[in-house]
Formats: sequence, structure tokens, C-alpha cells
Amino acid sequence: GEVTNLGRGGSDYTASILATQEKEENMGDITALIKKYEADMIGIRRHIHENPELSNEEIRTTALIREKLEEYGIEILEIGLKTGVVGFLKGGKPGKTVAIREDIDALPMSEKTDLPYASSVDGVCHSCGHDIHATVLLFCARVLSELRDELNGNVMFLFQPAEERGTGARQLLDCKFYEPVKPDVLVGLHVSPEYPAGSIGLKEGPANASCDTFYIKVSGKGGHGAHPENCIDPIAISGYIMAQLQTVVSRENHPAYPAVMTIGSIHGGKAPNVIPDFVEMSGTLRSLNAESRETMQDAIERISVSCAEAMRGHAEVRWEKGMPPLVNDQNVIAGLRAAAEETIGADHVITVQNPSLGSEDFSFLFPLLAPGAQFRLGSGNDADPNTRHGLHNSKNVFDDSCIAAGTAVLVQYTRNFLK
Ligand code: NI
Repeated sequence: GEVTNLGRGGSDYTASILATQEKEENMGDITALIKKYEADMIGIRRHIHENPELSNEEIRTTALIREKLEEYGIEILEIGLKTGVVGFLKGGKPGKTVAIREDIDALPMSEKTDLPYASSVDGVCHSCGHDIHATVLLFCARVLSELRDELNGNVMFLFQPAEERGTGARQLLDCKFYEPVKPDVLVGLHVSPEYPAGSIGLKEGPANASCDTFYIKVSGKGGHGAHPENCIDPIAISGYIMAQLQTVVSRENHPAYPAVMTIGSIHGGKAPNVIPDFVEMSGTLRSLNAESRETMQDAIERISVSCAEAMRGHAEVRWEKGMPPLVNDQNVIAGLRAAAEETIGADHVITVQNPSLGSEDFSFLFPLLAPGAQFRLGSGNDADPNTRHGLHNSKNVFDDSCIAAGTAVLVQYTRNFLK
């Protein structure tokens, strides 16, 4: 097929879409539409990149998104979100509703690239690529708005705040964005520096882990380090708890389900000869399976409490239960694969083998609303090693030629779904 080069870095966006076009001439040429607006959209992305905002503080980003959606003729649903936006596009004929979701927040870290559009805000930067996500979604809105007459159904554009805090998806749910029209399917993407720009990665089934934080307070009875018989030593107890907790993944979890438990902090005592009153620990629990997640939560609680009790102490476990595992629906993945083959070409579609134990709060929306899937959007470029540092790395550069590829796949998926 014909190859169209979009942007720098040569993400060859194979235009096999052109072959499809011949079959369905009245469907409109999305390749042409994407090419027409690409430079402008990259400009928007670089503006967002230069002006990053933290979770729940995405004020200017929200204002920009609203302004652009209005310009593109997209209705904005006023549902009471402080930051973030929900846009709505009614197609030419009634039908189902596709919701496309992306996040818009930045991270509390300083950017260390020498890009001309590097973050202008000290201590805040888009090192997770959510500036690219927001731009892809705006780009989808712009293109789909022009194609609205051909759509049998509606499109919802979910610009979600506060993903990095893991609360944004729940904020969207709390605003009941699904009440006017409930989506029939949820799709979205996340950039991936490990794959080349112009390609996407698809993973069926579990793709990201659940994420729970636990806090354990071990109480004893403080006193003189020379008289442990008069004390209850929370430091000794905590040592045993920590060792026992290592059996949660190895002895309590089903070996077929990948899981991680990490204790990331432990604090107690100040002097070498004083037994303190208490010790505090905290950790993270990750799992790809809902059942195994619960088994391990119970085990952490039981082991901590019983271990402390056996040693005359007392342990309390407090949870901040975060997102469930992100499980990609197999039919949605098949639809995304078809859309990608029609647009960026089959040789730019990577089947992702391993799930990530990282988490993604998009997962809050799937089980409650509709089947869904998130795919990975390659943003790496072999010609520039700075594109390969990875997410949450202050030096990482995202090859923004990936924006066109991500938009093409999401637009084509939506067109196919609303045919
Ligand atoms: Ni992210």
C-alpha cells in the first residue's frame, strides 16, 4: 500500500486505509483528515506539554480542551467536574455509544529534557505522556465531528483528571457522566516508549494490576532496652511480620496469578537503648486477578494481626484500596486490531505478551459500565535514545508522530463500531 510519512521520526502510517476507501467511498478519507490537522494537533500537544498541571489542578488544560471541543462542534456535558471534560457527539443516525477515555494530568517531578517546549513549570512535567493522550482525544473529536453524518450512534469523549492519583476515574463515575447516555464500549490508549512510534501494542485479558496500599501499625509497650521482659517490643514484632508477609505471594496466592507485595517504608524508634511504643509500616499490593487480590488482602491482615498477638503486641491494618486490575475485553481487542490493520497496517500491530504490574485507573470504568480495552501507543524512536528512557522518567522524550497513529486507530474503531 501507499506509505504516508507523518511527522518526524518516520512513523510510517501505512495507508492501507486507502484500499478500504475504494470499497466504501462515502465513508470519508480519515487519512486525509488526519494529515490535514496533524501539525496543528502537535502544536496543541506541545502547548499542553509546556504547561503541565498536577492531578485535580488541571485548570488551564481543562479550559483549553473546552475551547477546542467547542471549536470542533462537540457538545460539552455539564456534569459538575471541577477539572476534566466530557464531550458528546451525536451521529447522523441513532445507535450505540462509543466512549473514548484519556487522562490529562502531569506528575510532580521536574523535566530534564532540552526540548524547546519542555515544561515551564518547575517540579511538574508530563513524563507519563498524558499530554499526548489528551491531544489524541481532541484529535479524535475533531475528525469524528467532521464524520458525524456517517455515524450510526454517538461518541463520548472522556477527558479524565487525576489519573496519577488513582482518583480521576472515580470522580467521573461520581459525576454520573453515563446517565444521559450509557456507553456500550470503552476504549483508550496509553503511550509506551518501548514500542516504536507509528505502532500499537495489544494485550487481551489482564493488562495492568490492581493497586492497594496498606498501612500497618504495630503497637507494643515501650521501655528500657535493657529490660525487654517489662516491655512489648514492636520492633522485634515488626521484623517477624515483615518476614511472614513475604509468604503472602509465595504461599497464599495462586501461582498462576502474578502478584507483587512490597513494603516500602518502616519507621519506629529513635534511640539504640529505648524500646518504642509502636512501629509503622506501609506497602503496596498488586495483582492481576480480582480473587487473588482479595485472598492476599485477607492474608496480609491475618498474618499481621496474629503475628503481633502471638508476641503479646497488637497490629492494626488500614487499607487504601485502589483500582481493580485492568482486564481488556477480547472482542474489543479484536475490534482494535481490525481498526489498526485498516489504518496503520498489520505490521505495526504488536501483540503484547506480558501484562504490567503497574496500574491504570481506567479499570474502574470497565466492570461497571461496559466492556472495554486500552491499548499501548508506541512513542519510541530508535534514532533518538532519549525516547527510550521510559515512563515517569524526567529525561524521556515522546515522539509525537505517534499522535496520528493513535488517532487513526481510535477513529477507525469508532467508525466500525457505529457502522
Ligand atoms: Ni500514565
